Amino acid sequence: IHEKACRLVLFGGNGDLSYRKLLPALFNLERKELLAADLRIIGCSRAQLSDETFRAEAMEGLCENATADPKELPEVAERFLQRLSFVTLDANKEDDYQQLKQVIGDPAEKGCVIYYLATPPGLFVPICQQLQAAKMVNQQSRLVIEKPIGYNLKSSIDINDKVASIFEENNIYRIDHYMGKSAVQNLLALRFANLMFEPLWNHNYIDHVQITVSESVGVGNRKSFYDNVGALRDMVQNHLLQLVALIAMEPPTHLTPEALKHEKIKVFRSLRAIEGKRTRYNTVRGQYSAGEVDGKKVPAYNHEGENPEASNTESFVAIKADIDNWRWSGVPFYLRTGKRLKSRYAEIDIQFKNIHHSIFKLPTQANRLIIRLQPKDSIKLVIMNQEPSLSGALNLVSDPLNLSFYDQYEPADIPKGYERLLYDSIIGDSTLFMSRFEVEEAWKWTDTILAGWDEFDVPVEFYPAGSMGPDAAEQLLAKDGRKWFNNQYD
Ligand code: BG6
Repeated sequence: IHEKACRLVLFGGNGDLSYRKLLPALFNLERKELLAADLRIIGCSRAQLSDETFRAEAMEGLCENATADPKELPEVAERFLQRLSFVTLDANKEDDYQQLKQVIGDPAEKGCVIYYLATPPGLFVPICQQLQAAKMVNQQSRLVIEKPIGYNLKSSIDINDKVASIFEENNIYRIDHYMGKSAVQNLLALRFANLMFEPLWNHNYIDHVQITVSESVGVGNRKSFYDNVGALRDMVQNHLLQLVALIAMEPPTHLTPEALKHEKIKVFRSLRAIEGKRTRYNTVRGQYSAGEVDGKKVPAYNHEGENPEASNTESFVAIKADIDNWRWSGVPFYLRTGKRLKSRYAEIDIQFKNIHHSIFKLPTQANRLIIRLQPKDSIKLVIMNQEPSLSGALNLVSDPLNLSFYDQYEPADIPKGYERLLYDSIIGDSTLFMSRFEVEEAWKWTDTILAGWDEFDVPVEFYPAGSMGPDAAEQLLAKDGRKWFNNQYD
């Protein structure tokens, strides 16, 4: 039994992530009456903000990003804002932690406090060390760290080692907000609470898998951050690989954090390394040039931000990945993600093989299972069907059976990624978080691609903003006689 946290300290409290995602998610928990009365939320960063200004800025963030309009729920909004306070703190200054400790009060030493580091990974270790020095870490204190954990395998091991000397592993919550999306958790139910998919879920019946996370936003004023990261580290190393793991893993023995993590690690270990020259054939790097998205002209990647400096960072990546194990041998997983693409959507397509014998003198299309993660969660199963007709002519068409979560359930009840994960960290459930070994295995695979890109000077291919990425990404599948599905049944 885990104790409920009574203080949540948000490092990077007035940052983009906090205002856009974390505080709106916490507000939704407030609205659903899931926050304990004694929970206080303390934002901190170097900014000189009074509690009042922090609350006012938080309110602006809620108005833009919360699922329900806080102005229409004045009592809930007031209750929520009263939980907030702000401490000006330089992460490297010992004295500043004394002030934070005072604001946290008694729980800093005895109770359950969550330290949520919504900061660049370079600050993870210094913050943890300062917290320890100030005697603000006890056996119940929890640490939540955002991806990316490190910049490569080496730096991630370094962070994990140092953090492990301060917090217990079961109190470290490595967050990947994709794991909090309802449709992502539903992958477990889909695969393991139904009989009909699992017998077909292997190389005998599945031709290939496509995973697309398409974003229409650009990097905007995050360009200088993004220049040092790129889409492979920002999206593939974590979000897309977590999706691969949930699709590809063996059934866990139980739904415990350990069993789930164990199965995911096995998938990462079976990923065939893409190294050396293979990076040229199995991966595509792209960067957006100027174009039009949603009817608006938008600048090229290199003209984003206040002080644009030309960089060859990838804002798009496509990969053909292979999983070398009994179940998946010969079934490619095609992954792609990018910014400033045509529209925002994330989807997993499981393409089954075609029937092995046809009694029809007409072509049949193979079945496909489409799992839509966003913007509106749904599961579609594309099947062959006979089109009704009076003439009696046989006409086979492929049409989807459609389970739309937004029609089936109350949309406001479908939690956003951060909402679920923040709630889990408050109640102490780490099932949906990543273990250090998962993170490290994922880096191992990503590092070889990064090394290949470097060694073979794999160029960035330009694509106009508003397209679906560079031509080379089409070629990646065309070489195998396949095509991206591109949101076909929307
Ligand atoms: C974050 C990345 O982890 O995920 C961002 O750092 C990206 O670059 C975001 O935009 C996408 O999340 P979502 O939930 O909007 O798909």
